[in-house]
Amino acid sequence: MIQLKKNNYKTFSNSLLSWYDLNRRILPWRAPPGEISNPYFVYLSEIMLQQTVVKTVIPYFLKFVRKWPDINALAKAKLHEINSYWAGLGYYSRAKNLHETAKIISNKYDGFFPTDKNSLIALPGIGEYTSSAIIAIAFDRKSNVIDGNVERVFSRFYAVKKPIEESKIFIKNIAEKHLPDQRHGDYAQALMDLGSLICIPKSPRCTICPLLAICDVGGSTRAKQYPIKLPKKEKEERYGLFFYLKNKDGAVLFKTNKSSGLLANMDMLPSIGWYEDSNRLKSSPKFNKKKHEFLGLKWKILDQNLVHIFTHFKLNCTVAIATINDENELLIDLDKSIYRFVQKKNMNDLALPSLTKKILNSLKKHESLNF
Ligand code: ADE
Repeated sequence: MIQLKKNNYKTFSNSLLSWYDLNRRILPWRAPPGEISNPYFVYLSEIMLQQTVVKTVIPYFLKFVRKWPDINALAKAKLHEINSYWAGLGYYSRAKNLHETAKIISNKYDGFFPTDKNSLIALPGIGEYTSSAIIAIAFDRKSNVIDGNVERVFSRFYAVKKPIEESKIFIKNIAEKHLPDQRHGDYAQALMDLGSLICIPKSPRCTICPLLAICDVGGSTRAKQYPIKLPKKEKEERYGLFFYLKNKDGAVLFKTNKSSGLLANMDMLPSIGWYEDSNRLKSSPKFNKKKHEFLGLKWKILDQNLVHIFTHFKLNCTVAIATINDENELLIDLDKSIYRFVQKKNMNDLALPSLTKKILNSLKKHESLNF
């Protein structure tokens, strides 16, 4: 049974906030001390930070707000342009939701973010975490904001013995009790900064932690064992065959993904699907393995294999290459709203996910051979 440190709730938040006043990170979406937050900046950054680390997000955030300085500007953008600005951040449904939410806020709420939880959570792409973060950081209202960093801080502070996967609700309830009665936005961000700068996963910097004196494991070698985790499952493997087709002008065939799924709306090299069994790749009805035929063309399969890691699986990629003299006949049979040839100089306008960029980079050495 864990003993809650009721007498220390105030010490906890006061120590944390004093530490934050001296050590807060300067981040482009963060209001300077004493200034009011920009809800659009808070919202955009929280969506970008959902699955991506701060360092990666910063240049994307700056590029976005330069191009679309407020929610009304974002609402008026073309989805394809948002996707091309998002390319590389991953989890592409976030970009589509961003656009949908911007349109709703611009049209239904006159460009002002709603301030209540129910209205926020009803917006596409905004869930429990993001709505809590917006309420605390953008509107400085009491709100329990729990991400992985915050879970780590509390699991150490109370030396929670149950694996984190099974103790999330318990930690959320503990965190709720620790919420102070003022400086709600600063407190939420102070916890995040403590988790990123001090209470870090591998080598926690307990000696300079403002909570050292009241933490259950602080300063001991046990700290880094928390949060306790269930044994990791091996990542599943999948196999994909991608087709790189060049016309006589050097333009390459791309296909835009449909608007749902892992790489929604992204521009990809055509493929015959990703299979869990590598043999299925060779026996796919879409690809004639004996003649190496796809789209009615003959392909050369490259020896080199490339691996791309997604959150839940590892994709082993094989690439087939071919050239075509007259693409018009091929395009007759293809849906031109999703297939198109693109010149190298125009590829920057595409929404290329990291996977496609990686494959294109790996092909550069074949390009020099002028296949
Ligand atoms: N991670 C998620 N949201 C964050 C924020 N607002 N500041 C720093 N790190 C974060």
